[in-house]
Amino acid sequence: MYVCICNAVNDRQLKQALDEGVVSIRALRRHFGFESCCGKCTSCMRSLINEYRKAGDHFTPGDPSCKAKRMSYGC
Ligand code: FES
Repeated sequence: MYVCICNAVNDRQLKQALDEGVVSIRALRRHFGFESCCGKCTSCMRSLINEYRKAGDHFTPGDPSCKAKRMSYGC
């Protein structure tokens, strides 16, 4: 599932970055080397970061409470 359509970043890439200790939106943007285009992914990334912090090692990206799923269909 794409988290950021503008920069083609998916949830697995995001999880890997979180596992590597990149745990803020600013750091994630720097890690992936992108600037915010439309900004629609910000709330989704924030949700994923919060889910990751709660779940720890058991974190499995999937269906976060964000609009990523809708975005993956091209909004
Ligand atoms: S979806 Fe991430 S900047 Fe547009």
